[in-house]
Amino acid sequence: MILEYLGHSAYIISNNNYTLAIDPFMTANPACHKKIEDFEKLDYILVTHGHSDHIGDTVELARHYNSTIICNFELGHYFEKYYGLNVHTMHIGGLYDFAFGFVKMTNALHGSGIIHGGEMIYGGNPCGFVISMDGVTIYHAGDTGLFGDMNLLQRLNIDYALLPIGGNYTMDTSDALLASEMIKAKNVIPMHYGTFPVIDSDPNIFKDKCSSNVIILNTNAKINL
Ligand code: NI
Ligand code: MN
Repeated sequence: MILEYLGHSAYIISNNNYTLAIDPFMTANPACHKKIEDFEKLDYILVTHGHSDHIGDTVELARHYNSTIICNFELGHYFEKYYGLNVHTMHIGGLYDFAFGFVKMTNALHGSGIIHGGEMIYGGNPCGFVISMDGVTIYHAGDTGLFGDMNLLQRLNIDYALLPIGGNYTMDTSDALLASEMIKAKNVIPMHYGTFPVIDSDPNIFKDKCSSNVIILNTNAKINL
C-alpha cells in the first residue's frame, strides 16, 4: 500500500486493487507535479469540505475516471446537482465498509462553504476521515482547529495521522502537538503548511517536539505503508 503526497492536504492512497484520492488540490497548486490524466485509475475521491483548496480538481478527476466521491450529504448534493457525478454521502460519526476497507467520517472544526459562480453555497459540516485499507489505519484531519474529542480517536489505533500545522485557518504546530498527544497515532505526517505565505510553518520544529514519530513528506513523495 502506497501513500503519495501531492502537497497541501492532497494525498493518493493505493494498493493493487484500489486508488483513492483525498482533497485533490492539484492544478492550482504550483508545487504539485501530478496532472489530471496521470493516474491509471481513480476509484474514489474523498473530500473533507467545500473550500477550493480541498475540492481542488475533484470534478475533473471524477469525470475523467468515473470516480465515486465520498463526502458529506450537502457536498454530495452539490456534486450531483451541478455536475451529475457519482457520490457516496456519509455524515459525522458514520462508518461504511467499502470494498477497499472502511471509512469513518469524523468531526472537524472549520467551514465548508462552496464558492460557485461568485456565490457561497452551503456545504454542510467539514469533516475528517479515518480510512482503513490493508489493515493500515489513516486519519486525515481535514482542515480543523484543535478540539478535545480528538481524544476519542486513540481508540481507533491510528497508524498514520495526517494533521494540519500551518495555522491561520487550522491548527498551528503547538496545537498540532496537543492533537498528537490526544490521538496517539504511531506516526504523524504534517500537512496544510507552506502552500501560501499565510500558512508558512516549519515542520522540523513540530518533528522535534512531537510525542509520535513524525514523517515529513515532500510534495510528490511516495512512501510504503
Ligand atoms: Ni478549508
Ligand atoms: Mn484548506
